[in-house]
Amino acid sequence: MPSRYAEVYAEWRADPQAFWAKAAADIDWISPPKRIFDDKAGVYGRWFPDATCNTCFNALDRHVVAGRGAQTAILYDSPVTGAKRRISYAELLDEVATLGAVLRSFEVGKGDRVVIYMPMVPQALAAMLACARIGAVHSVVFGGFAAPELAARIDDARPKLILAASCGVEPGRIVAYKPLLDAAIGLAAHKPSACLVLQRPQAEAKLIAGRDHDWQAAFDAAKAADRRAGCVEVAATDPLYILYTSGTTGKPKGVVRDNGGHMVALKWSMQNIYGVAPGETFWTASDIGWVVGHSYIVYAPLLHGCTSVLYEGKPIGTPDAGAFWRVIDEHKVVSFFTAPTAFRAVRKEDPDGALLKKYSTASLRTLFLAGERADPETLAWAGRMLKIPVVDHWWQTETGWPIVANPVGLGLLPIKPGSPTVPMPGYEVEVVDDAAKPVKPGAMGSIVVKLPLPPGALPTLFQNDQRMVESYLSEFPGYYKTADAGYKDEDGYLFVMGRTDDIINVAGHRLSTGGIEEALAAHRDVAECAVIGVKDEIKGEAPVGFIVLKAGVDRQPDVIEREAVALVRERIGPVAAFKRAITVPRLPKTRSGKILRGTMKKIADGENWATPATIDDPAALDEIAQALKR
Ligand code: COA
Ligand code: AMP
Repeated sequence: MPSRYAEVYAEWRADPQAFWAKAAADIDWISPPKRIFDDKAGVYGRWFPDATCNTCFNALDRHVVAGRGAQTAILYDSPVTGAKRRISYAELLDEVATLGAVLRSFEVGKGDRVVIYMPMVPQALAAMLACARIGAVHSVVFGGFAAPELAARIDDARPKLILAASCGVEPGRIVAYKPLLDAAIGLAAHKPSACLVLQRPQAEAKLIAGRDHDWQAAFDAAKAADRRAGCVEVAATDPLYILYTSGTTGKPKGVVRDNGGHMVALKWSMQNIYGVAPGETFWTASDIGWVVGHSYIVYAPLLHGCTSVLYEGKPIGTPDAGAFWRVIDEHKVVSFFTAPTAFRAVRKEDPDGALLKKYSTASLRTLFLAGERADPETLAWAGRMLKIPVVDHWWQTETGWPIVANPVGLGLLPIKPGSPTVPMPGYEVEVVDDAAKPVKPGAMGSIVVKLPLPPGALPTLFQNDQRMVESYLSEFPGYYKTADAGYKDEDGYLFVMGRTDDIINVAGHRLSTGGIEEALAAHRDVAECAVIGVKDEIKGEAPVGFIVLKAGVDRQPDVIEREAVALVRERIGPVAAFKRAITVPRLPKTRSGKILRGTMKKIADGENWATPATIDDPAALDEIAQALKR
């Protein structure tokens, strides 16, 4: 069957508002949109400005009303704890409505923020949906962040309530969340009025009287009293959630997602990009702390009436590199989405797919990869193993859904390894030079998206329109700056090659080298430092920090290096995967004092490098090369 992509993309280009009006008809609105787009509202315009709706209603109630109540909504599969649980749409609705009533009892209402600091347990999903139900704005913080990162998010979001679990379970290690939460609240200037803590049997937390409340007790009390929260009517443009992502400094950016546009875009994507039908089982192996988890573990599968797998485990080690195949087989997954790093990890452990032979993956139609560049080797290996199309697609926390993809539902386009394929409707993608002029096919440039961004993409940063404009809209007027660089080929396929800013991608996680440098610079013996992302066989990139010690420091460099590594873990968290600090006598700089990070990266990656003409002292680069050999 020929792909309908070209026709559908042309339809969107001819009349974007008509296109999204049609897509909006798939959503149950409280008051349907009369206007589709208001170009005068917000920073660059707002979608569905006069409509009202409730996201939780569309994710749950709607399906129960339509007879899908007995279908499994969430399939919780937790190899790290041994738990498995099927939760039907009717049961999830009941749990969410009850939890919504609990949130109300803490006086959380429309527009109030709720921080969720929880691992991959069903209650975390229920918490997100309960916020959506009562019009509160959730902000999920990934469990691998340390207390200062959590504190920064608390201070920006200023939550009324924090929902947390007592612990997360990592292979071979229980991560006690509560001490991190207590430390974060201690550090933050803003104090939430209460915390609701889910006690997990692996490590129960000590509750602080007057502030902390036991989740289960509060839930049981609401249930016994038959208290349930109804769906609150919100504007389509009201925020559904804030998700913090790395900026170029240590201060994270609060990406805002609205209710209406988000539902329209995600619902459209399930059928047309992912090629999945309601009732089918969709699995995204990510974490609800990331955008991929928000969109494709929680909201999109539920909005579409699918069964979503919630997997609390890893690609390897829980218990082995056959974990993905086991879950696909056991739950008859039709569509699987993860990051290339996960496949690199599986491939390293089981290169010939011996464990794959123990299972049937016959239900699986497509593998989707995103979160970092999918290297052609990994792509080819996954295709050889699974014998299904492997689709790379490119997106960002900011967009919330794919910018560039191979739209399986519209008919698969030829796959070109190394390219996430073509722009989706809603996105006019250009590769431009520094003067914002489109470059020729094959030429590298900055990847930008013509404004307005489509429904679902961020309207702004939380209470910070100015940072939104400065970060994304001012450098290339009329465009959204993705901060990715790449090129388009003659067929219009996009190749995304890397970031133009100081963001690095470690195991599919987005990290700011600037943020890590801030942590290193806090060490009392460090005079200056530079962090780069060095090629890593499994994680894509791994951060490496070069530190210059203050004059007169006579402590052993290896002791200071170990302290520096510990400091990054303490300040940013294990997610930074920061394992290597290297002491150097000085950093290579240009004559104007700019650190030559690009050349340092080339040296570390073993690529050809040339001494930049502007360098202050070329010997400083040799010192880096020498230090890396240690
Ligand atoms: N809570 C607490 N700690 C966490 C955590 C969480 N939710 N998630 C990860 N960590 C810790 C890990 O235990 C590890 O700690 P360690 O330094 O003590 O070993 C550290 O953070 C780094 O984690 P990670 O980068 O995930 O590395 P890993 O070695 O544990 O696993 C992979 C490597 C490739 C298996 C893993 O990165 C993976 O599955 N990645 C998928 C990427 C993904 O989902 N990306 C989202 C976008 S699609
Ligand atoms: P995040 O906001 O955490 O989802 O990270 C987004 C960034 O990850 C993008 O700006 C890219 O740099 C990178 N990225 C995500 N998906 C891809 C992909 N398919 N190919 C190349 N880079 C990707």
